[in-house]
Amino acid sequence: MLRDALPEIITSALPGPKSAEVIKRREAVIPSAIHCGYPVVMKRAEGAIIEDLDGNHFLDWIGGVGVLNIGHCHPEVVAAVKEQADKYFHGMFNVVTHEGYVALAEKLTQIAPVRGDKKRAYFTNSGAEADENAVKIAKAFTKRPNIIVFSGAFHGRTLMTMAMTAKKAYAVGMGPFPDGVYRAEFPYLYRKPEGMPDDKAIDYYVEKFNEVFENCSPAEYVAAVVVEPLQGEGGFIPAPIEWVKAIRKICDEKGIMLVAVRILEGSGRRAGHHRNGEIHRSRRAALGHRRARGNHGSRAGRYDRRYVRRQRARLRRSPQDHRDHGARPPR
Ligand SMILES: Cc1ncc(COP(=O)(O)O)c(C=O)c1O
Repeated sequence: MLRDALPEIITSALPGPKSAEVIKRREAVIPSAIHCGYPVVMKRAEGAIIEDLDGNHFLDWIGGVGVLNIGHCHPEVVAAVKEQADKYFHGMFNVVTHEGYVALAEKLTQIAPVRGDKKRAYFTNSGAEADENAVKIAKAFTKRPNIIVFSGAFHGRTLMTMAMTAKKAYAVGMGPFPDGVYRAEFPYLYRKPEGMPDDKAIDYYVEKFNEVFENCSPAEYVAAVVVEPLQGEGGFIPAPIEWVKAIRKICDEKGIMLVAVRILEGSGRRAGHHRNGEIHRSRRAALGHRRARGNHGSRAGRYDRRYVRRQRARLRRSPQDHRDHGARPPR
């Protein structure tokens, strides 16, 4: 079984000849905005192992950027996909109702750690779309124009989520951006002011957060605070739970919606589904999830150094990076 295989490179170079051929074809017809850092062309995959066209085996430690929560081609998932394919492919949910959508929403609303009886779930195509919709819902609900996001945040590559994302290298040449997006400091305890004990640092970061109401937008104009309780691209940094509780309280007091973006957390990877569950106990919370899909370009753990150096050089030449699932402008 491929899932039990170990990583093994059998070609003298990477990519091997068959993979190199497909990569060449890729470069001829796919916009370079979708960079690919690894010389791997998938033939098949099981669990955490990818086999390429040349028979090399790679350990897939990316999992479609955190969305293949149970790995490739789990037999139960494959059976469910086949069963569905026998019935029908697609019916726009705003045109026809299909029961699977409803059943999944029922399941999610049962397990979502949000207080109150009225829970709703819906599904989007990408993380960026989930984040944008959460902002729209918050604005519609509160009738307020502004949002607060954080240093180190990653929210996607659509226009709004580029504005929300901290790293501006992604946004070079893409402005102007939507207004009303203000940034507070994420509570990164490793980078706290030198010598400050952790409990004081949490107070410090809460204080920094409150300064946004002074310096950027009065609270009564803030619709939502959008936060990754576990930052992904920011460096896999968990927000201290005491800080999250303080932000929750501030939001409740000021009528602001708290949006927890949990895209890279990997719901379902451990018992309980919602790892930071306690922070979402609120009447007003929105959880942004990106569902696990099988159609991402996975990146593998073994690579050819020269190939990666070449790709990095390309990235240096054009630092914008439009690899995500939505919003990929061709260049
Ligand atoms: C925290 C976070 N938000 C948003 C996104 C964007 O998701 P998508 O690529 O599905 O648009 C990502 C992608 O990795 C992410 O990590």
